[in-house]
Amino acid sequence: MKDKYKRDIDYLRVSLTDHCNLRCIYCMPSNIKFENDNVNDVLSFDDYKFIVENFAKQGITKIRFTGGEPLLYPYLEELISFTSKECNIKNIAITTNGIGLYDKIDKLKECGLKKVNISLDSLKPDKYSKITRLGKLEDVIKSMEKCVELGIIVKLNCVLINTLNDDEICDFVELTKKYPIDVRFIELMPIGEGEKVFKKGYINLNKMLEKVSGLKVAIDEEKSVAEYYKFENAKGRVGIITPMSCSFCSECNKIRLTSSGTIKLCLHSREEIDIKPYLNDDIMFADFINSAILEKPKEHNLLETNKSETNRKMYQIGG
Ligand code: GTP
Ligand code: 5AD
Ligand code: SF4
Repeated sequence: MKDKYKRDIDYLRVSLTDHCNLRCIYCMPSNIKFENDNVNDVLSFDDYKFIVENFAKQGITKIRFTGGEPLLYPYLEELISFTSKECNIKNIAITTNGIGLYDKIDKLKECGLKKVNISLDSLKPDKYSKITRLGKLEDVIKSMEKCVELGIIVKLNCVLINTLNDDEICDFVELTKKYPIDVRFIELMPIGEGEKVFKKGYINLNKMLEKVSGLKVAIDEEKSVAEYYKFENAKGRVGIITPMSCSFCSECNKIRLTSSGTIKLCLHSREEIDIKPYLNDDIMFADFINSAILEKPKEHNLLETNKSETNRKMYQIGG
C-alpha cells in the first residue's frame, strides 16, 4: 500500500489491550482502574484474525503486537501462530515490559515470534520500581537473558528522562558488550502522561552519544526509526530514537490499530478511523483500507506545539 506521499506502508502495529501490569510514570496514571477485567472487549479474537489476514493480503509484511502490555492478552500465542502460519508473515514482533515473559517466551517462539522489544528505563532496582511503580527489575533481566539464549532478536527501549535516568547511559551502553542486543534510547514525547513530565524531563538525544567514546556508526539492514552505533567487537548495538529532535516522518512506513478498534494513521494525529464496520467482508475491507491510507498525514507538528494532537494515551495506542 502506498500513501499519497508515495510512502510504502508495510508495517502494522496492533494493540491487543490497553491494560498493563505496570504504571510507568510517563505512560499511565497511578490510580487508573479498568472498567472490567476483560483485557479486550471491543475486538474479538476472530476480529484480530480477520484484521491480520486482510492486512497481509494488502501488503503488510511486518506486524508488531503491542498493548498496554500484549502479554496480558489471553490469545497472544494463537494470534502469533495464525499470523505466522496462516498469513505467512515472518516479521513478527512484540513490544513488552518483559514482566512474565520468562514463562511465556518458549511457547511464543514456537508459535513464530522472532523479535522482542523490551521497555527498560533503569538498571537500578529501586529506580526501576520507582519509574514503573509496580515492577521488579530482576523479572525483566531474567526475561531478557532467556530471550537471548533462545535466539530471539532483542531490543531494549530506554526512554531517557532528565535527572531521572540520564545518569545510567554508560551502564546501558555497556550491556551491548555483554549481550547480543540493541539498546535504544528514546526521546520522551509530550503525549498522554508524557506531557506532565515533558517540560522538565525532555532530553534532545542527538548529541548525547558524542559523550560516549568509542562508538562508531553502524549499518542497519532493517528499515527502522532508530539510528545505530556500535563499539568495536561489541555483541550488540546502541541506538537512538529521536521523534522530537529529528523527525523520521518522511520515511514512515507504519499504521496502527488501537485496542478500541480504530486505525491511527499517525501516532500523533487526532483523527482515528473506525475499522469495525469493515470486518465481515474482504473486498469492503480492501477498499476501505486502501482509501484510508491516502489520508495518512505528512508529519507530526510536535516541534512547533510541544504537544501531541491525539487525545489518546500512549498505553491505548501501544507506542
Ligand atoms: P523496530 O521495528 O524494532 O525498530 O521497533 P519500533 O521502534 O518500530 O517499535 P517500538 O515499539 O520499540 O517503539 C520504540 C519507540 O519509538 C516508542 O517510543 C515509539 O512510540 C517510538 N516510535 C515508533 N514508531 C514511531 C513513529 O512512527 N512515530 C513516532 N513519533 N514515534 C515512534
Ligand atoms: N515518550 C516516548 N516513549 C514512550 N513510551 C511510552 N510513552 C512514551 C513517551 N511519552 C515507550 C515505552 C515503550 C514504547 C512502546 O513506547 O517505553 O518502550
Ligand atoms: Fe505499561 Fe508500557 Fe505504559 Fe509502562 S510504558 S505503563 S509498561 S504500557
